[in-house]
Amino acid sequence: MTNCSKCLHVLECGGCSVQDIAYAIQLEQKQALVASLFAPFNVPVRPIIPCKNVWHYRNKMEFSFSQNKAGDRFLGLIIKSSRGKVFNLQECHLASPWFSHTLLQVRKWWDETSLRAFNFRSGEGVLRNLTLRESKRTAQRLIMLTVSGDPNYPIHRSQLTSFVEAVGDPSASIFLRVQQCIKGQPTQFYELHLSGPDHITEELEVLGQPFTFKISPTSFFQPNTVQAENLYTEALKLVNLSKETHVWDLYCGTATIGMSMAPHVRKVTAIELNPHAVFDAKANAEANNITNIEIICGDVGKVLKGASFETPDLVILDPPRMGLDPLALEMLQTLLPKQILYISCNPETQAKNITALKGYAIQTIQPVDQFPHTRHIENIVVLTRLL
Ligand SMILES: C[S@@+](CC[C@H](N)C(=O)[O-])C[C@H]1O[C@@H](n2cnc3c(N)ncnc32)[C@H](O)[C@@H]1O
Repeated sequence: MTNCSKCLHVLECGGCSVQDIAYAIQLEQKQALVASLFAPFNVPVRPIIPCKNVWHYRNKMEFSFSQNKAGDRFLGLIIKSSRGKVFNLQECHLASPWFSHTLLQVRKWWDETSLRAFNFRSGEGVLRNLTLRESKRTAQRLIMLTVSGDPNYPIHRSQLTSFVEAVGDPSASIFLRVQQCIKGQPTQFYELHLSGPDHITEELEVLGQPFTFKISPTSFFQPNTVQAENLYTEALKLVNLSKETHVWDLYCGTATIGMSMAPHVRKVTAIELNPHAVFDAKANAEANNITNIEIICGDVGKVLKGASFETPDLVILDPPRMGLDPLALEMLQTLLPKQILYISCNPETQAKNITALKGYAIQTIQPVDQFPHTRHIENIVVLTRLL
């Protein structure tokens, strides 16, 4: 790293780890990585689609609260290779400047309270995370404070009132999230709406068609709005769609991809685990007058195992970083769609899953740079059934 880095945190932050490398070289490196992961398939990798705005592109950031043994307070991002140590963030150029400004306001608020940061080793303390989101198209803002649900470490109403005041943005959607961890039980999350509208709305245009998407505080939405539009547009161009096509949108989030395909096909069936995202997806379908989409809440593998379905023409896969679990992979082999559109933010697990998939040939490999200055790569692979 050199002292001409854009960000003053470059040496400690694990975020923009390649910001000193010229953007054209970053793209070459990502292209080479995808090419090496997919080399065994002997299919040329298309040139990576660059990101036009290489700074301020993120629409969501999650910051952590932390305290060391001496009680010093930290609010920011995780120090690289530190096993969870946090540094005090002053600036971050991946998101709009209001993100850092709000974080500093929250930091001041924290300094005026006796609240302790949650310690994930001992389970003591209350403050866990500060999540900030914005709609790039409507400029709406969402702020969520995540706290421990342990009654031994409460946060009082007056402290929440002063939190909202400290944020100082009456038009922002502000939420409290309680993350309750009880040994031997699944972690529970509860959200409490504190102030402003109860969601934000994002707008995307895909192949000339405008869409609006309602986003609740915990629903997944592609973190780079402008590149999400390019990703979906490219994806639509790469697959065969007709008014006869039945599409399955698996791991659908708020069903943004499925919905952008809906006007071009007969039917979309979407599956998503997060009930808040499913709720948003249903509201989004209604808001966009889409009537040929069905959204099912559940685990992809279990939903597919529990019912019998007609063979889909196209299955969209967009799983989390760890890729498909064994049951989902097994059920995909049972469904046997004619085409698979596999979008992934982790080409490594994507290549592994595709290696395990029998009876398909890769038609297209198209990387898309969603995250300039970081090592992360988004990759689209289109597969066609051999028989
Ligand atoms: C990478 S996001 C993709 C979202 C969506 N395709 C989009 O472009 O906005 C992965 C989604 O998978 C969901 N998910 C994770 N595990 C799942 C599972 N086992 N079954 C169904 N959905 C799951 C997550 O909640 C998240 O919304």
